[in-house]
Amino acid sequence: MKLFVDTGNVKEIEALAAIGILDGVTTNPTLLSKESGDYKQILKQICQIVQGPVSAEVVATDTAGMLREGRELAKIDPHIVVKVPFTKDGVKACKTLAAEGTRVNVTLIFSATQAWLAAKVGATYVSPFVGRLDDIGTTGMNLIREIVDIFDNYEYGTEVLVASVRNPIHIVEAARMGADVVTVPAAVIDQSFKHPLTDLGLERFLKDWEKAQAAKV
Ligand code: E4P
Repeated sequence: MKLFVDTGNVKEIEALAAIGILDGVTTNPTLLSKESGDYKQILKQICQIVQGPVSAEVVATDTAGMLREGRELAKIDPHIVVKVPFTKDGVKACKTLAAEGTRVNVTLIFSATQAWLAAKVGATYVSPFVGRLDDIGTTGMNLIREIVDIFDNYEYGTEVLVASVRNPIHIVEAARMGADVVTVPAAVIDQSFKHPLTDLGLERFLKDWEKAQAAKV
């Protein structure tokens, strides 16, 4: 399963890329609006750091506008994946952009039929939002299971990108279900590194080693 970070923050991306665990990045208008500077330059910088797929979202809501914005975004860097919302206009734009050879991430997916329709028009990724489903009292991960099951029956070539991840349990469940990609906020990636027994174990190893060295002198 590929790991993307869900952020528009260059520093967070640099830190994770330096560890060697990052396969790509997803941004959205909310995330990019938190960053200062020109969003196209930020996206270019992110592409240069990660050297993998970087999702950049359109803000137009009509097909013509999405196509115009999508083509502009795609010009920023070959790593750009154009993100369009799941609407009739978005699906139509996805079909055209995909036919032109642009990779498209269809976002704001909340049902299996939406994911299936996006796959039919050639989406490279579908982004089901698990955390936002949990937020309204349904089990978001059930949707991932449904989409993975459906995609396993056919050869769409569309990858399931688990989005709106809130905790490491979402990551574990996504991997167990066979999702292709998980996009995770940097804070949740940090949580995934931590375990008190790792810290305690390391402390004990180092102490024992020090004690043994001291006894030898
Ligand atoms: C996905 O690409 C979205 O950017 C993101 O995962 C949304 O997450 P949120 O529900 O935490 O805003």
